[in-house]
Amino acid sequence: MEQINIIKPDDWHVHFRDGEILKAVVPKTTRHFARSIVMPNLIPPILNGRDALKYKKRIENAIPKDEKFKPFMTIYLTENTDKKELKESYKNGSVFAVKLYPAGATTNSDSGVKDLRKVMPVLETMEETGIPLLIHGEATDTEIDIFDREKVFIDKSLDYICRNFPELKITLEHITTEEAAKYVLAGNENLAATVTPHHLALNRNSIFLGGIRPHHFCLPILKREKHRKALLEVVTSKNNKKFFLGTDTAPHLSTDKESSCGCAGIFNAPYCLPIITQIFDNANALSSLESFVSLNGANHYKINYNKSKITLRKNSMQLSFKKSLKLKNAEIIIFQPGFPIYWNVIN
Ligand code: DOR
Ligand code: ZN
Repeated sequence: MEQINIIKPDDWHVHFRDGEILKAVVPKTTRHFARSIVMPNLIPPILNGRDALKYKKRIENAIPKDEKFKPFMTIYLTENTDKKELKESYKNGSVFAVKLYPAGATTNSDSGVKDLRKVMPVLETMEETGIPLLIHGEATDTEIDIFDREKVFIDKSLDYICRNFPELKITLEHITTEEAAKYVLAGNENLAATVTPHHLALNRNSIFLGGIRPHHFCLPILKREKHRKALLEVVTSKNNKKFFLGTDTAPHLSTDKESSCGCAGIFNAPYCLPIITQIFDNANALSSLESFVSLNGANHYKINYNKSKITLRKNSMQLSFKKSLKLKNAEIIIFQPGFPIYWNVIN
């Protein structure tokens, strides 16, 4: 039986939501991950250090007693973000990073940024102070084809931000295209990217496999096979330093996804590590797994590696997946990649 032992992973991009969903999903992340960056796109969004601290307390209350887990909080960048308050909140530790959603790009992004020029002074303060900027990299003009939104954002907005703020620490979140991978590789050391398990596992055909599959709908939307392969290549590469795991685990009630206007988001926390390990194994790249899930993100954010370790084991029997996470009167469907998974976390 094959076994690997690696530094405990971090998930650098999670959606924990709030209330009953938060209580149900937090333990699914804390089981396998030591730390996470928590997205601020609640309704209403987390806009300042005070809200971030209150939200952090609600998350901490949902962590199982026998587990150690650190949530890193973010605020949602708007055209009215207060530079001074942000700087103080970063310095006193209540805010770890700032999330830029172009207005209308995804779930609960209505109060996002419409005009980049209006947030340039905040980005300048962030560059000076060392506050990381996390970017949902999709252009939102409705005339742009949904499959081209990431590429257009890179050309029109990301490049502008990178050129103006070379010292700003930037994470291009959940990249989905060959163009994004190449842009990040060519960028300076302050630019890195997160990659999700679903974008490594699936291409856009899986949204339409025999009918419409709402549980494979996320944003940025899944792309062509050549893009999935490009992502796989960069994350499994021996010298990968710039790409790390951000699962974008994004729970929605099944009724909100199986609807005439279904929500974007894939809830992948429960089996994320077994799936990622299988993907690396299938690519003969298990030796690069630890960099992707446990080291590169910590290096990018200039924080220590986790001290504890986890062990993964390859079994002869396929992992059997639970189909959903049950809530009181609802359920959240759990991501299944559609190929066999033999790996599991054993401690
Ligand atoms: O698919 C997605 N779901 N992409 C995002 O960027 C947001 C997320 C959510 O909050 O549901
Ligand atoms: Zn997200």
